[in-house]
Amino acid sequence: MLLVVKLGGSILREGASSELISDLKALAKENNIVLVHGGGAEVTEIAAKLGKEQKFIVSPEGFRSRYTDKETMEIFTMVMAGKINKQIVAALQSQGVLAVGLSGVDGLLLKAERKKRLIAVDERGRKKVIEGGYTGKIIEVNTNLLQFLLGKDYMPVVTPMAMSEEFESLNVDGDRTAASIAGALKADSLVLLTDVKGLVLKGKPIQKITATEVKEVLSSIGKGMSTKVHAALEALNQGVNEVLITSGSGKQPISSALKHEYGTVISCE
Ligand SMILES: Nc1ncnc2c1ncn2[C@@H]1O[C@H](COP(=O)(O)OP(=O)(O)OP(=O)(O)O)[C@@H](O)[C@H]1O
Ligand SMILES: [Mg+2]
Repeated sequence: MLLVVKLGGSILREGASSELISDLKALAKENNIVLVHGGGAEVTEIAAKLGKEQKFIVSPEGFRSRYTDKETMEIFTMVMAGKINKQIVAALQSQGVLAVGLSGVDGLLLKAERKKRLIAVDERGRKKVIEGGYTGKIIEVNTNLLQFLLGKDYMPVVTPMAMSEEFESLNVDGDRTAASIAGALKADSLVLLTDVKGLVLKGKPIQKITATEVKEVLSSIGKGMSTKVHAALEALNQGVNEVLITSGSGKQPISSALKHEYGTVISCE
């Protein structure tokens, strides 16, 4: 099987757990795995230490995103492609997994269209058009590079950054990066590991839901999770079999989700 697994920054605060790493090691024997990681909260923390307070904007659709000016993009690169990516790579290698860390700009792995303008909604619901900064939407995945690495038994560990048409590094969303990669590779499963057990609707954890059903309740899903559900729909649309949203802590977090024992399964039907 081909699996794309996104490690939420929410579960990487103390580095990837040994349970998670040993699960990845066991799964990698039988499957091809591409990892994508998050880490936004750590970027915010380190930016504050550097005296660069981060600004967030909310889109009319309710997405919250970092306002990424040039300096913020530099800090994002240092923390995400530097610190966090290398910590994951080192943890995997310490268990004998041949991991290769790369950001979306390496080997032109991810190409994106830079957002020229963004619409930001303030607390009173007023809309304002602002300059897009260094953020983008992925338009192309270099699947050759990933397949080359997988073919030689390397596990790619991808930082959600992308190259613009003008060769600027852009900040792209981690969940949607994982969805684009899963879609481009026609992965069997996209697994989104986070700090909650899965999707909760009206206070109840959901075990299984279809794409059609989840679209109807999208507006009731809070920030963080709604990005995952949008990413899940994008992946399913591109031919991924199923999307699993589950907790990254606990025993064998990925294997148990693949067996549908834990977490939420989102599929076309
Ligand atoms: N309906 C919902 N069901 C479950 N969780 C929800 C829901 N609505 C909002 N959430 C929130 O979504 C959060 C997960 O998304 P979040 O972006 O915080 O983590 P992450 O994606 O794992 O980390 P990162 O964004 O750094 O990669 C949960 O901690 C939870 O509080
Ligand atoms: Mg998130």
